[in-house]
Amino acid sequence: MEGLKSRVRWLMILMVMIRMLHVDCRQPVLHKVGGGRFTWAPNINFTEWSSHENFYVGDWLYFGFDKYTYNVLEVNKTSYDNCIDKDFIYNVTRGGRDVYNLTEANTYFFLSSRGYCFEGMKVAVQVREVPPEPLLLNHGFRSYVYIHAILLATLATACACILPF
Ligand SMILES: *[C@@H]1O[C@H](CO)[C@@H](O)[C@H](O)[C@H]1NC(C)=O
Ligand SMILES: *[C@@H]1O[C@H](CO)[C@@H](O)[C@H](O)[C@H]1NC(C)=O
Ligand SMILES: *[C@@H]1O[C@H](CO)[C@@H](O)[C@H](O)[C@H]1NC(C)=O
Ligand SMILES: *[C@@H]1O[C@H](CO)[C@@H](O)[C@H](O)[C@H]1NC(C)=O
Repeated sequence: MEGLKSRVRWLMILMVMIRMLHVDCRQPVLHKVGGGRFTWAPNINFTEWSSHENFYVGDWLYFGFDKYTYNVLEVNKTSYDNCIDKDFIYNVTRGGRDVYNLTEANTYFFLSSRGYCFEGMKVAVQVREVPPEPLLLNHGFRSYVYIHAILLATLATACACILPF
């Protein structure tokens, strides 16, 4: 009975450790909007660009642009759809190499005012929670083996700790 209890306890500790492992494993990604260093510009298909990116909570957007011509404003969906730059949510514009922290699992909308939104300078970014099992899902079997090697090592350590000498 006692043995079972302590084994269950160790199992729980292991599961917590695995969760920590997963959280630590995914580094935040900096997504260059439009794909390059200065690609916040007219006539780039940002719908096409964002459809090839995976945005997760904690990632960053990078807008590279000519600050004398363009700007970056966060707006809501209605404003995004109709290119309305009045009463925006947040002004991302600083020096033209500007970043934005994606802190929530949400859809974010950005546009450039001064008429450039009508030339295609708007982007919608759908941000998801970091998946709970990124190692297993993204890297397949090798990571599976790797995780189990870590598990076995941890188990061995755990056993060594609880065995009375
Ligand atoms: C942009 O790309 C999307 C998805 O590939 C496509 O549906 C859309 O027609 C394109 N828009 C323009 C303006 O080319
Ligand atoms: C979006 O923002 C505009 C401008 O601030 C505002 O008039 C409108 O009510 C907002 N729409 C929604 C759905 O929040
Ligand atoms: C956004 O911020 C920049 C830099 O602070 C400023 O120059 C610009 O006027 C602001 N744009 C709007 C629309 O408020
Ligand atoms: C960015 O957002 C994440 C998630 O909320 C937060 O942990 C982090 O501190 C933020 N970073 C900065 C520099 O604001």
